[in-house]
Amino acid sequence: MTAPILRSVAELRAATAPWQRAGRSIGIVPTMGALHDGHLSLVAAAKARCDHVIVTIFVNPRQFSAPEDLASYPRTEQADAAKLARFGVDAIYVPDGDQMYPAGFATNVTVSGLTDVMDGVHRPGHFAGVATVVAKLFAQSAATDAFFGEKDFQQLQVVRRMARDLDIPITVHGCPTIREMDGLAMSSRNLLLSDRARTIAPALIDQMEAMADAVAAGQDPAAAQAASIAALLRAGFTSVDYFEIRANDDLSLAASSTTRPARLFAAAWLAGVRLIDNIAVPR
Ligand code: PAF
Repeated sequence: MTAPILRSVAELRAATAPWQRAGRSIGIVPTMGALHDGHLSLVAAAKARCDHVIVTIFVNPRQFSAPEDLASYPRTEQADAAKLARFGVDAIYVPDGDQMYPAGFATNVTVSGLTDVMDGVHRPGHFAGVATVVAKLFAQSAATDAFFGEKDFQQLQVVRRMARDLDIPITVHGCPTIREMDGLAMSSRNLLLSDRARTIAPALIDQMEAMADAVAAGQDPAAAQAASIAALLRAGFTSVDYFEIRANDDLSLAASSTTRPARLFAAAWLAGVRLIDNIAVPR
């Protein structure tokens, strides 16, 4: 059965208040819609762990720097609701811009340190937009648990830091990246790839695995990185924003010999679409 669609904070609070009073767990899965199996895996994780589950759909203007990127972001509310029907979620929260940012809205949540690298540098203002909207969604829903994909690992760490620093009583769960058969990480942005670009896109994960394996085999990380970036450009990617190994906890650059858990992070442009991915190293 299709879950009720709630469009205002008041409706959301009316739904969650009795669950809160009864001491039940409330899971929230924040999304910007265009739901794919990656999102649905988060919903399944939330359903397995929580008494009640809310999926939020809000294309957050504050986390886009280019107006055309915001305008072209896929919006598929009806199809999203249909996909959620089989999970039995309790509600789908679809606020409009005025609900989230009413006239006079003047607060910005910024997380320093973790946002000084990678997408924090290449997408100025992006993480402040994310942290602000996620803080609002946590406050509005009174959720006890939140579910985010590891595909956006930097975002996951920023959200964890924000919730901890603001004493928001919520457990943030990171869930594994879900991939297409050819290895491409699932992302709503994949819908923007042309047929030709879609055939090239798996080169990103192929080259990430090649670098991870080369480094694990003792090759110089800088040489392995250069070889992978060159191969991506030969395959048809137009530029690479970053392709580097960083520690999971503070996202600082990590030597290949690190004993701390680390990941290889990549962001690259293909036919006007920016793809990001990350994998644990060694894999
Ligand atoms: O990952 C996303 O889809 C968005 O960044 C999020 C967490 C829903 C905030 O708008």
